[in-house]
Amino acid sequence: MGVRHFLTLKDLSHEELTKLIARAIELKKKHKSGDIYEPLKHKVLGMVFEKSSTRTRISFETAMIQLGGHAIFLLPGDTQLGRGEPIEDTARVLSRIVDVIMVRTYEHKKLETFSAYSDVPVVNGLTDLAHPCQLLADMQTYFEHRGDIQGKTVAWIGDGNNMCYSYINAARQFDFKLRIACPPGYEPDNHHIAQNDSYATLVNNPTVATTDADLVVTDVWASMGQEDEHRARAKAFADYQVTPETMARAKPNALFMHCLPAHRGEEVSAEVIDGPQSVVWDEAENRLHSQKALLEFLLCP
Ligand code: CP
Ligand code: NVA
Repeated sequence: MGVRHFLTLKDLSHEELTKLIARAIELKKKHKSGDIYEPLKHKVLGMVFEKSSTRTRISFETAMIQLGGHAIFLLPGDTQLGRGEPIEDTARVLSRIVDVIMVRTYEHKKLETFSAYSDVPVVNGLTDLAHPCQLLADMQTYFEHRGDIQGKTVAWIGDGNNMCYSYINAARQFDFKLRIACPPGYEPDNHHIAQNDSYATLVNNPTVATTDADLVVTDVWASMGQEDEHRARAKAFADYQVTPETMARAKPNALFMHCLPAHRGEEVSAEVIDGPQSVVWDEAENRLHSQKALLEFLLCP
């Protein structure tokens, strides 16, 4: 097999993903016990960020340092990309120099083009269509708290955005049932649902979505790039806040997840995100461990 990229969860098989999650749990234990593990000595990760980030940048950079390598943070304004150098040329040049590349951008197509011209693995650090690294962390978190997610029911409440698409892919790859409740006009596209209809269902009603769910997940109402729509969205999404009442409809041991950053009082109430069912800080921490497992998978075959 040629160079492997990680643009969506579909780039890895079910077996590879479950192994990767197990490895992430192992690497976390190793790290916490003080073990030094440096399989990526002298390896370099190039990180291209066209959108803001806290977790993705810090976790990838820390992962590379802890694995013995190094990461370079690139902003379009500081590189020739910002002055119009074609993405194809940037991909060819970067991939001649560094060992692995992470890209956070808007159009998913741009990431696909980048990867087509890269000789080294390219990782999706978030596009408008997918956020697969976050799903690795979310799945690790579920496995750690509740065991295998296979056969469980997950409720997605809110926007049919990049995280929602990645949850649809995760439902297929990890074999769980996903119920999606979005306000009319904000659903993920029908085609994507139709392709995954044995795993994902549009219910368009938060009550139906959360009843007896094992996991309740939400995300911001306006993603990066949609700031101008914030007011209109706040109106449309008003009935889609995850509250204690929402959580009360789920199973008593249901977990709450959010990729962060969160807006308390919009998509989630403070009682829920700061409450006992919330595992959002574990999700954030697990970005580090699951991305270490991913980097090891891509660079140490
Ligand atoms: N969840 C997540 O990707 O966070 P950042 O935007 O801070 O990287
Ligand atoms: N849906 C959010 C996720 C942020 C990590 C966004 O794209 O802004």
